Amino acid sequence: MKAKIITKIPGTKSEKVIHTVRKLNGGWGVSYPFVHSKDGKGCYFKDIDENTFLDFASQIASNPLGYNHPDIKSTIKQYSSRAPVKFAGQDFLVKEHALLLEELLSITPHHLNAAFFVNSGAEAVENCLKISMRNRKKAKVGISFESAFHGRTLGALSCTNSKTIQKKNFFSIPMKRLPFDESAGDVLQQMLKHDVAPEGVAFIILEHLQGEGGYRVPSKKMVKDIRVIAKQHNIPYIADEVQAGMGRTGEWWAFQHFKIQPDTFSSAKALGIGATIANKKFFPKEPGSICSTWGGGQIIDLAVGVQTIKTMKRKRILSNVQRMGVFLEKELQALSAICPQVSNIRGLGLMRAFDLPSKKAREDVIIGALKNGLVLLGCGDKGVRLVPPLIIKREEIIEAIDILEKTIKECCKPKFKHTGKICQYTACSEDGT
Ligand SMILES: Cc1ncc(COP(=O)(O)O)c(C=O)c1O
Repeated sequence: MKAKIITKIPGTKSEKVIHTVRKLNGGWGVSYPFVHSKDGKGCYFKDIDENTFLDFASQIASNPLGYNHPDIKSTIKQYSSRAPVKFAGQDFLVKEHALLLEELLSITPHHLNAAFFVNSGAEAVENCLKISMRNRKKAKVGISFESAFHGRTLGALSCTNSKTIQKKNFFSIPMKRLPFDESAGDVLQQMLKHDVAPEGVAFIILEHLQGEGGYRVPSKKMVKDIRVIAKQHNIPYIADEVQAGMGRTGEWWAFQHFKIQPDTFSSAKALGIGATIANKKFFPKEPGSICSTWGGGQIIDLAVGVQTIKTMKRKRILSNVQRMGVFLEKELQALSAICPQVSNIRGLGLMRAFDLPSKKAREDVIIGALKNGLVLLGCGDKGVRLVPPLIIKREEIIEAIDILEKTIKECCKPKFKHTGKICQYTACSEDGT
């Protein structure tokens, strides 16, 4: 397969669906000008207008094995003759609940030996916060980092410091914020000395590769300092692995790059289900203290999670992520030599980003790439994320870089402006983000 655009974007069939969703959907709207069809293979998918796109967004890092992977298809097929496929799974068990617990805990560090399933990344974070708070009777505040994104439920949102629009007029749990750089440890020490006593801190939460905030990799010193201080004072240390976890960075969990272990961590996206993971002793014992109706009961999601991990192990996907991540970085470096607009190349594994000179240039390039059949995502102020499925091959990376080069040359000319209906998407209509 290759990327091939045969209609205007959006095509007429996609436009009809988008129109309905825009009219009736209670949320913000629709960012991307296509509607998925059932067709696709590997890193490519077709929209319902028969356009073929090369996917370097993986549905925000939540589609690790790409489109129509045979293992995932045959897993889903097993459930085609039964209903319901969704149970109130914390109380009414299905065997897939046990299978995913076993499979997930086979790839976590030894002492992180229990998991609690929920519906989303935000809920996974929320439960990390709650189980951390549970034993901190004097705690008054939590601590997160500048530009962090931890989700949109009110607890998780309180830890988010990404865009003001995400928080406007929403109440927050009390939080303090640390800089996302090597001064973080010193700032935390000062905070604990002058501002809030260590026993007043309920948790510290950190992305070990910051996602929406700009695909920033923290320094080893920053992570080590924070981990050491948290341990010294018994402050629960939470890793948010919703975006960076499940092999995306070339290790199962991004915190493993820093040779530290959290007290609890969240997973979701590529796992296909939300999970809060910790030592069994770290979870509350009282019945009903945490629960969720659908948690542990979405049979297909649970089975797909099991199969995803099994396939990743069998196909040695982590080693592909490491090799292709290095190749992608080299290709980006070569691209920056041809297109000087490309700067600040960063990331780990297949979680990479670069900057363009301005937010406008970034948005123009994302839209231009779509017109040329490549799906990208933005991050931070002027960053472009490259997050392909973990099964990506060299020739697909080369194709993506060729499209990027062509697009940057088209879109970074002075006074460049996209025209037509495409302007109603991503950032030509940017105020919403
Ligand atoms: C690091 C991180 N944490 C939490 C979330 C929230 O996940 P969800 O959108 O599934 O609630 C996200 C989503 O992008 C994320 O990137």
